[in-house]
Amino acid sequence: MTAVADRSLGPELARTQTIAADTDVLVVGLTSSENGPAIVPEDLFGDVLPADLRAELLDQLGAVGAKGKAEELTRVPAPAGLDGVTSVLAVGLGAADKIDAEQIRRSAGVAARTLSGTELVATTLSGLDIGAAAEGFYLGAYTFTPFKSDKSAPKPDERPVARVEFLVPEAEFGEEELFRAELIAEAIATARDFVNTPPSHLYPAEFAARAQELAEAAGLEVEVLDETALDAGGYGGVLGVGKGSSRPPRLVRITYAGGPKKVALVGKGITFDTGGISIKPAQNMENMTSDMAGAAAVVATALLAARLSLPVTVTATVPMAENMPSSTAQRPGDVLTQYGGTTVEVINTDAEGRLILADAIVRASEDEPDYLIDVATLTGAQMVALGTRTPGIMGTEEFRDRVAEISRANGENGWAMPLPAELRADLNSKIADLANVAPHRWGGMLSAGLFLKEFVPEGVQWAHLDVAGPAYNTGGPFGYIGKGGTGVPVRTLIAVIEDIAGE
Ligand code: BES
Ligand code: ZN
Ligand code: ZN
Repeated sequence: MTAVADRSLGPELARTQTIAADTDVLVVGLTSSENGPAIVPEDLFGDVLPADLRAELLDQLGAVGAKGKAEELTRVPAPAGLDGVTSVLAVGLGAADKIDAEQIRRSAGVAARTLSGTELVATTLSGLDIGAAAEGFYLGAYTFTPFKSDKSAPKPDERPVARVEFLVPEAEFGEEELFRAELIAEAIATARDFVNTPPSHLYPAEFAARAQELAEAAGLEVEVLDETALDAGGYGGVLGVGKGSSRPPRLVRITYAGGPKKVALVGKGITFDTGGISIKPAQNMENMTSDMAGAAAVVATALLAARLSLPVTVTATVPMAENMPSSTAQRPGDVLTQYGGTTVEVINTDAEGRLILADAIVRASEDEPDYLIDVATLTGAQMVALGTRTPGIMGTEEFRDRVAEISRANGENGWAMPLPAELRADLNSKIADLANVAPHRWGGMLSAGLFLKEFVPEGVQWAHLDVAGPAYNTGGPFGYIGKGGTGVPVRTLIAVIEDIAGE
């Protein structure tokens, strides 16, 4: 076997009409039903899997207990006659009448994870949905190894699949879908890379520099405000949160000018959240490397909108800071002045995300966007309310519901949540315009949303996505998601922007 391509490039994805002679594994889909498992799709690949071979393969799979349950994996030697293929991996898709794009993505992802270290994979899952299959394979094959010293010989379970060939019935089939899927998966990998890069190496100035480099390479306009510019501009929220760190804050603005409609994206970029003076417990604090996942997602989405040449203008406004305790840190009880003039009493320095977001939302609103979407790992309360895989979506009602629906249609599970008016008064401060937390813990996710709402101008369609749990997987791998950064909600964001483009 030759060396596998660099991970950051992802697996090579290609279309093919015939199985190459040196194929290591053929991946087929298996559905379940009362009549037993079935290989799908039924007849798209007559030449590749003729009826007799298909029947023989199904017999072999049945003999070793394959049922076709969702994400079940069954590997058998390739039947004689399947020339050039070493083995066949059947991946379960569940009930035939319930297969959707997300199921195909997940099943392809499980296959890619289990096949890590394989040179050449061919698959017929492309006959069901080539885009979903490609996304699943690419995302499932994702690994993050820049901090492993032994780069020359990655361990078998750390090596990505090198190349995946998607079987298609004719030369033209699926070209656009594959191209699109690859761009989407690359954007998700970019977001994951940012999240997985540890806080020692990704601090505000470095995050800004990397975002700038990617954006400029894509031909986009970039503006980076350093601490001096933030001070001159009056960005009191970003400065207040960032002032406890020896590594000063930044605000990055990336613009893709693609058309008349304007979408503003805002993402929370806390490169590490210790809590500040209101310091967090030591247990699991390392997971706070993920506190810039919102920023990572909006940067990746702005780049993706450009690569897809969407006919909309997308501007990402990304505040970046490190929330540290020190003698220069802000204190509980301090009052800061947000960009735009609102004063905030900082009751709890661990509720820092809303402070940097408020500045960014006000700045983003100066462009008079038609839509404003902010994304943040904002509250532990998001996980208390919805668990680790369901983003909470708040905002103006119509747009909130639209974003939630699109999120679910794209396998990211977003769920609409209210902003109850009666919780707003709990954010009143005795000495400032607002307090950054309520004096109780009820509805913590909603209370954070209500704080942000104060900074969104009337008439802007607004959605706030709290992805505290969904952006970072601290459990075992599942579907196309491994440990660490997940890339959520990049697929939701790009689908919403496409929906807006199609209005
Ligand atoms: N970054 C955290 C939220 C978080 C928690 C994200 C767990 C991912 C996993 C945020 O800055 C925070 O600390 N929020 C506080 C708010 C509270 C002080 C009102 C929280 O959720 O406890
Ligand atoms: Zn915090
Ligand atoms: Zn935070």
